[in-house]
Amino acid sequence: MNPIARFSLTIAVLLLVAGAVAAGLFAIPHRTEALRADNAAGDAVCLSCHQEKASFEETAHRLTSTLPTRQSIAGSFSRGENVMRTSNPQLHFRMDSTATGFSQTAVMGRAPDTSSHAERIAFVTGSRKGQSYLYWGAPDQLYQLPVSYWKGVGWVNSPGYPDGTPNFGRPIPPRCLECHASWFEHVPDPTVINRYRPTGAMLGISCETCHGSGRAHVRRERSPLRSLLPRAIIHPARLARARQLDACALCHGGTAALRTPAFSHVPGQPLERRAAG
Ligand code: HEC
Ligand code: HEC
Ligand code: HEC
Ligand code: HEC
Repeated sequence: MNPIARFSLTIAVLLLVAGAVAAGLFAIPHRTEALRADNAAGDAVCLSCHQEKASFEETAHRLTSTLPTRQSIAGSFSRGENVMRTSNPQLHFRMDSTATGFSQTAVMGRAPDTSSHAERIAFVTGSRKGQSYLYWGAPDQLYQLPVSYWKGVGWVNSPGYPDGTPNFGRPIPPRCLECHASWFEHVPDPTVINRYRPTGAMLGISCETCHGSGRAHVRRERSPLRSLLPRAIIHPARLARARQLDACALCHGGTAALRTPAFSHVPGQPLERRAAG
């Protein structure tokens, strides 16, 4: 073969291979995944291209769970305002902000004969009307703290807690976190429902909670071959009406359990409600 013919043949083969690869990529439809710590792109990456969505970071969705800070905790730690009395004269709660963090202490008995139980706030849930606080016990189980905050009222008993009893034993089920965070790794345990990996949680609701894991979309939008690659992000406006409703009903359809484990719902897929009864 003369060099020109060989060159032409090489080019032809290369074009064929490139065409086959492109066709192959194009033919594989993207499968959306539920968001997890190990497949998340993160809001900062989304916003690097979608700057017009930046105000999302200040919404109730984004802020619905946060780490405890003076800003994120709505209740007051000032002297005189950091105590919640109860109908039980032998019990009051004290909220403290110190160098080591924020805590709630149940003080029982009458001075000078008092005993106390203190726990450190690990997470804040709620951003508008009220807040509840979670703590790590034992050391990888999440519990709700007995004192919550309600706007216009101040420190209050957590919802459903009888007044006058120091209750530190209410476990946080995965479903609670599914509605108020982007990801917690639940550790299955036949004896308790509230065991989680203590690191790697993604707080607040993020872009990918509603749009699905976005890494493939980011790869596509950054690729020179983008027009050949399948769309790889859920746009709710393109979904059937029932799926659009599901997208919000995951969290706004009542607190009933779902058939699927927490954090496994895939945006765009039907919401698997547990059969009644
Ligand atoms: C490299 C830039 C880039 C990044 C990063 C990026 N996007 Fe996009 N996104 C785009 C472009 C460009 C489009 C328009 C695509 C089109 O119309 O084909 C788009 C479209 C979308 C759409 C509409 C899709 C549709 O079907 O019309 C959604 C939803 C979306 N992006 C969400 C996200 C989310 C969530 C993230 C973070 C995980 C993200 N984007 C990260 C560039 C980006
Ligand atoms: C992953 C769970 C989750 C999903 C999905 C979700 N929400 Fe929410 N939404 C919440 C939570 C939790 C709050 C309360 C946040 C707070 O105040 O801390 C909330 C609050 C709101 C509010 C009040 C916000 C405000 O600023 O007053 C509106 C409106 C709302 N959601 C609409 C929607 C719509 C519409 C959808 C579907 C497109 C949706 N949500 C999807 C969990 C979710
Ligand atoms: C099925 C989803 C779901 C579950 C489960 C759930 N929540 Fe919520 N939560 C919501 C939504 C949605 C709102 C906003 C309701 C509204 O404004 O009408 C909300 C509101 C709140 C608020 C008040 C927020 C505010 O600022 O107005 C707090 C605090 C809260 N939830 C804490 C919790 C805790 C703690 C758990 C678990 C022990 C829990 N929630 C379980 C969806 C859920
Ligand atoms: C609570 C669910 C929810 C969250 C969280 C959310 N979105 Fe969306 N997003 C939607 C819905 C619903 C639509 C469709 C709205 C419409 O066009 O009808 C949408 C549409 C979009 C679109 C395409 C249409 C448009 O408005 O440009 C882009 C891009 C997008 N979202 C990016 C983001 C980014 C980036 C974030 C995070 C900063 C984010 N979204 C967070 C629910 C959500």
